[in-house]
Amino acid sequence: MAAEIERNLLDLPERRFPINLDVEIPKVRDLYQAAIRNQWDPQTDVDWTALDNLELTDEQRQAAILWWSRRAWNEYGAVSESPSLLVRFYQERFEPDLALFFTIRTQEEARHAEASCMMAERLGGYVPEPRKQEFQGSISTHGVRRMAFDLDSSIEAVVAALVCGLEEYAFDWFRLMGETTTNKAARQVIRSITRDEVRHCAFGWAFIQKRIPTLSAAQRKVVEEAIFNATQHVELNGYRVPWLAPDSEASRQEMETDRICCEAGLGATTEDMEKPIFVATVQRVREQFAALGITVPPFHHHRIGTL
Ligand SMILES: [Fe+2]
Ligand SMILES: [Fe+2]
Repeated sequence: MAAEIERNLLDLPERRFPINLDVEIPKVRDLYQAAIRNQWDPQTDVDWTALDNLELTDEQRQAAILWWSRRAWNEYGAVSESPSLLVRFYQERFEPDLALFFTIRTQEEARHAEASCMMAERLGGYVPEPRKQEFQGSISTHGVRRMAFDLDSSIEAVVAALVCGLEEYAFDWFRLMGETTTNKAARQVIRSITRDEVRHCAFGWAFIQKRIPTLSAAQRKVVEEAIFNATQHVELNGYRVPWLAPDSEASRQEMETDRICCEAGLGATTEDMEKPIFVATVQRVREQFAALGITVPPFHHHRIGTL
């Protein structure tokens, strides 16, 4: 069982006043305004007729339903993770730009979940949970809510590990799928999500850039460890894609689902398509951290080696 949180965010007294709404991180305020300008509506901005009368085998339809359901589970996770970070920004009196941006970010994650669920529904029916218990461990949670509520866990570490790390890997994956997905509705959903995610990643880097110079050597070490742990134990354990998960009957089945969905032009990627891109992204993220004085240790993966 996880250790008790000694200093819990929810136990802090309400500290609203004085309310400062000045622009303190202009880059983040710009992202907030860009997010407001770029809202989209899954109900009306996707050509859902592109899913009518598709010539699909049963196997392809089932694979696409499962893949999009999995996307919805993942996005829905962010719907509760996002506000936990928002409360932390608010109660610890971080720059107001952060809380403003995160309110819109939460809406965007809700929209990603809704659009993914609609894809599954219109392909024949949303599936509410994984078919194999075994695989649930890989895709459950990365523990961000708990970390956000624990005042002794570093918020810089959480953002560096999950936003600049995991969200950046997801962004490049979405960008790839935006090029390889041939069905119009699926491609529109994927590209709309990608356009939101570019802001989520930019937020992470703007925040980290601002905060890293204020951290002590020991605090930087904590950031480095968090980045390592999230990539090594969450991402490389198959949180986002099954080809990164430990080899098992369940993960092989999920990889097969991805392959079939991808070949039907309805989303997803295969290991062969994604691996070189993923390796390059990990390298790029490591270089971006190095430029900020953060050293990310090498990772190991049974299908990739050292990266
Ligand atoms: Fe998302
Ligand atoms: Fe996101």
